[in-house]
Amino acid sequence: MKGIILAGGLGTRLHPLTKITNKHLLPIYDKPMVYYPIQTLVNAGITDIMIVTGGNYAGDFLRLLGNGKEFGLTHIHYAYQEGEGGIADALSLAEWFAEGEKICVVLGDNIIENNIVKAVRDFEKQDKGAKILLKEVPDPERFGVAEISDGKLISIVEKPRVPKSNLAVIGIYLYDGRVFDFIKTIKPSDRGELEITDVNNAYLENGTMTWGMLHGWWTDAGTFESLLRASILVSQTGANNINSVERRA
Ligand code: DAU
Repeated sequence: MKGIILAGGLGTRLHPLTKITNKHLLPIYDKPMVYYPIQTLVNAGITDIMIVTGGNYAGDFLRLLGNGKEFGLTHIHYAYQEGEGGIADALSLAEWFAEGEKICVVLGDNIIENNIVKAVRDFEKQDKGAKILLKEVPDPERFGVAEISDGKLISIVEKPRVPKSNLAVIGIYLYDGRVFDFIKTIKPSDRGELEITDVNNAYLENGTMTWGMLHGWWTDAGTFESLLRASILVSQTGANNINSVERRA
């Protein structure tokens, strides 16, 4: 399976920190943010990856990551997103790279305590479709929110004012090759972006979306509060631990 890290966008919620650098190059405790999603993929056995970035500082990724040897990557590819057209817009740039195969997509500001080994293995066995991972959070209105009833995924709503559950859809998505066809069918949202939640709902309507729960903590790092929380969590427990329940399961 190939991996795609989405590290575009302008990071305006973190101004002035992101005025002279890309959000994903900011420090999370002792490493640049983008190191964590790379490690998430490597720990799941995914070493052929593409990084989609954008803005004025895209060249800094090459200087920082080079050919990815430090992480044990076999291949690292880069793509450039113009503007801030949304997560699904950034993902569309990876169509040629994916070559119709299954992919694991990680948002560049998502950091996890443990690993996604089990989810990736389960998805390898899944005939077709997509898989999302959920995590209970105290502030679901900040995220895509899943409604589950009798173990069945009913709906996913992006940043609902009145969330139907406390289950956030985390920024790690597993897709089959049809994802790029689904992206072509969606329209920009009210905030002018191609939303990944619309892509996930296309799979849901298609009846081929599965879901799992993530064990261990998860955080994004796109606001001042979550950026600080991410550093504190990493300093306390470390991130991307591989000897966790997900690996044994
Ligand atoms: O963190 C998980 C959440 O991420 C999900 O629960 C939501 O459903 C999903 O929409 C997303 O929400 P955010 O509004 O927090 O996403 P944000 O705009 O912060 O973008 C997250 C990452 O996606 C960002 O670090 C880089 C990448 N991205 C984003 C945009 C808008 C791009 O590569 N290009 C883009 O144009």
